[in-house]
Amino acid sequence: MPEKLISAAIDGPVGAGKSSIARTAAKRLGFIYVDTGALYRAVGLYCHRSGADMSSPADIASRLPEIKPEIRLCDGVQHIYLNGEDVSEEIRLPEISMAASAVSAVPEVRTALLDMQRKIAAENNVIMDGRDIGTVVLPDAQVKIFLTAAPEIRAKRRYDELCAKGVQTTFEEVLADLNKRDYDDSHRAVAPLKQAEDAVLADTSGLDFEQSCELVCRIIKEKL
Ligand code: DC
Repeated sequence: MPEKLISAAIDGPVGAGKSSIARTAAKRLGFIYVDTGALYRAVGLYCHRSGADMSSPADIASRLPEIKPEIRLCDGVQHIYLNGEDVSEEIRLPEISMAASAVSAVPEVRTALLDMQRKIAAENNVIMDGRDIGTVVLPDAQVKIFLTAAPEIRAKRRYDELCAKGVQTTFEEVLADLNKRDYDDSHRAVAPLKQAEDAVLADTSGLDFEQSCELVCRIIKEKL
């Protein structure tokens, strides 16, 4: 009998450190790390580039046949491709964050991306992060973590990250964007951001990066 594969779902709001913590924890545990937000970002990037009306779910949905987002693992590191082009860097721009949040509220977009996410988890030991992994994508995941921190702390972390990349912005702008995205992500009709009933709540407000990674690794190991 092949060994049973392990899925760990990490959900939470913007800037909770999901990606960096999950990536590090995956490395330590020998799992594949999957950042599902990158798929929504790739769809958002396409819609942004092609001039979609981002307030029109019908316009966004009508473009889906032209969009082929793909997760490719290169030496265990995730790259995101859009119609064959590596867009791993471009999808991180603040305007694409807003576009990703808009497209993620469109039910047809969520349906189109669902199988892709489940297939990766069906073939690998994964730590998958997103908003609806524990609730919708992998409801049977052995480990579910809801990772969060106070909004100001998350905004400061995101602001520092953007500054380090040379993106011109202000803390106030980052905090306002973060609050808007959290509100929209938690209030959409389909697969809203919420803690799964069986998820462990991990608040990293008072923790540094290393402590947060240790906490997540400990929760995962305890559940295995
Ligand atoms: O995690 P992120 O910031 O890269 O995600 C970008 C957007 O995609 C976010 O605003 C919400 C959406 N998203 C989602 O709806 N479901 C997921 N599983 C992952 C991301």
